[in-house]
Amino acid sequence: MSDRARIFATRSLAGAPLAGLAHRCDLDVWPARTAPTPEQLASRSRDADGLLCLLTDRIDAALLERCPRLRAVSSVSVGVDHVDLDAATARGIPVGHTPGVLTETTADLAFALLLAAARRVAEGDRFVRAGEWTPDRVWEPDLLLGRDVHGATLGLVGLGAIGQAMARRAQGFGMRVLAWSRTRRDMPGVAFASLDSLLPAADFVSVHVALNADTRGLLGESALARMKPGAVLVNTARGGIVDEDALADALRSGQLGAAGLDVFAREPLDPASPLLRLPNVVLTPHIGSASEATRARMVELAVENLLAALAGNPMPHCANPAVYARPT
Ligand code: DGY
Repeated sequence: MSDRARIFATRSLAGAPLAGLAHRCDLDVWPARTAPTPEQLASRSRDADGLLCLLTDRIDAALLERCPRLRAVSSVSVGVDHVDLDAATARGIPVGHTPGVLTETTADLAFALLLAAARRVAEGDRFVRAGEWTPDRVWEPDLLLGRDVHGATLGLVGLGAIGQAMARRAQGFGMRVLAWSRTRRDMPGVAFASLDSLLPAADFVSVHVALNADTRGLLGESALARMKPGAVLVNTARGGIVDEDALADALRSGQLGAAGLDVFAREPLDPASPLLRLPNVVLTPHIGSASEATRARMVELAVENLLAALAGNPMPHCANPAVYARPT
């Protein structure tokens, strides 16, 4: 690496990898717990050679324009819908991300949401805490009846690494698994299906595609109307893939039975969101990858990506590999 590269890290991240980065580079770490505003991000990144960012930092063409020295962007996330990849590629800037390491952890949460929505776990918890479990209601034949998961059909929208990890969990629970993805993928025990045939056949639908121009709004009003009546929707991918107003309507009308959601079109979830008032929705605050080990591994990978690029080598996990095919 020539001289000491300047890095702006948009959040303080625990662990040895960041200490290693500080040892090798001039590291400026955003001191607050909350994300920098776009203006703060632009002014702190202005002289940076590398940017270590999170999915809450919008890395768009205007920001890149204001950072003439920038040679690498590395996001501590697998999803890169917060980065304008075309603009970065056009400027010759590789964008790193962290695939692989969060697959199993995210699938764990997706399956937890599926189970929680099916068996009304959050409703049960609220019932007990609210003091409604009283001596005259010790055990009722129809209290909080849910849906069986075993023997049911799971439809996976997306069969990449996380979709496949979800399929393995579902198989362990004795579910039949259907899957659709943009490019056909084969997996033992999983029946590949068109989206049109998957939606009406699945008791549970779990979303595992990336958010991009093709998938934004993929599960809108008409797709939700084609789902099996009473089915359960799980989304741990990105909020923009599901139309939340249409989802709330479908949950209210009984077209859908329940939902388990970790991601939202706008995060944090708007306090006015109708989803907050529906008892048959289990909500978590974008914690799909939130285990100690996985978050540590994500930081490690993001730092590896950054150091590789600053040393003039290809990033081990680059989200815009076309950047390496550009004429120099
Ligand atoms: C990602 O990495 O894209 C996840 O959404 C964060 O866990």
